[in-house]
Amino acid sequence: MLTKRTKLIDASGIRKVFELGQSVENPINLSIGQPHFDVPQEVQEAAISAIRSGRNAYTLTQGLPSLNKKVMKAAAESVGREFESSMITCGVSGGLVLAFMALVEPGDEVLCPDPYFVMYKHLINLFGGKPVYYDTYPDFIIRGEKIEPLINERTKLIIVSSPANPTGAVHSEEELQEIARIAKERDIFVVSDEIYALFSYDDPHLSMASYADNCLLLGGFSKSHSLTGWRLGFALGPRELLTEMTKLQQYTFVCAPSFAQEAALAAMDIDTSPWRNDYRKKRDLVYSSLKEFGYRLEKPGGAFYIFPECPWGTDEEFTAEAIKNKLLIIPGSVFSERNTHFRISYAAEDETIRRGLEVLKKIRSRG
Ligand SMILES: Cc1ncc(COP(=O)(O)O)c(C=O)c1O
Repeated sequence: MLTKRTKLIDASGIRKVFELGQSVENPINLSIGQPHFDVPQEVQEAAISAIRSGRNAYTLTQGLPSLNKKVMKAAAESVGREFESSMITCGVSGGLVLAFMALVEPGDEVLCPDPYFVMYKHLINLFGGKPVYYDTYPDFIIRGEKIEPLINERTKLIIVSSPANPTGAVHSEEELQEIARIAKERDIFVVSDEIYALFSYDDPHLSMASYADNCLLLGGFSKSHSLTGWRLGFALGPRELLTEMTKLQQYTFVCAPSFAQEAALAAMDIDTSPWRNDYRKKRDLVYSSLKEFGYRLEKPGGAFYIFPECPWGTDEEFTAEAIKNKLLIIPGSVFSERNTHFRISYAAEDETIRRGLEVLKKIRSRG
């Protein structure tokens, strides 16, 4: 009855973690990929006011003109160039679905970072493409010498994400320029997932789109304003691609939720630096503590994740030990072809982080 397509997605990794987590009472949860603060009050009010004043109908498929205009203006300022077109999507996930639907032909190869955000792999497979992983271990930085040998006539796209999930890696100007050079010379289109743009701790965020014209920039509000359930993102890039993505949205998602689009207009005026400052402190605490306990890890420059090496055993063995101690973390193989690391999300209260660190200190050596 079911299509072969459904078998192309394997959700067993995440499901296993979820099932293990369910059995723990009062867990120390450092596994969640969303901010621990709530949607800011002004944004909640804007959403409620939009609903109460009857702005509940479909919007234009491309999204509210006022929001598109604001997103285009903000992006032009931060990226340093004008974009040809934009659209409002149902989260970055929605943007990824539309982009791959428009760009990936069966047999196309898509260069994908390893470790990666899980959705990339599954969506590429779903559309008949082949994910070709470029290894970024041990510092999680994309390097030309790792990418270039993988390029052939079937290579269509490269996915770049900075700051990245699950590693928190942030790329420098030189590193982004190197990717842009390769993409231009080899005629490969770039999909840049910048959902963590507002969580860059040591330097201002740098966008891939500042260096590559042949680039689709995907961004969103899920992480920056903690509205993961509202499903709101945006896409900016070449007109030809955005026109096709809008057409595809018309017959799939139809439009992003209207109240969320209205509220995003308010969200864009909010100063997000207090959260960034708070998460920078959490990053510093987690990094310095784990270093002191003897873990091998890179200092992440952004997002709210850290991706240390397991001090013993496989990632599943090590996370099983953590879970026995009530600590929920995610085995690295959920995000990678390797099974040597684990992901911590420090988007949590300081007290939860401290309790989690105590467990990680205790289980540093095999018991
Ligand atoms: C790198 C990355 N891209 C995209 C998404 C999806 O975000 P959204 O809620 O906007 O669909 C996530 C969520 O975890 C993510 O980590």
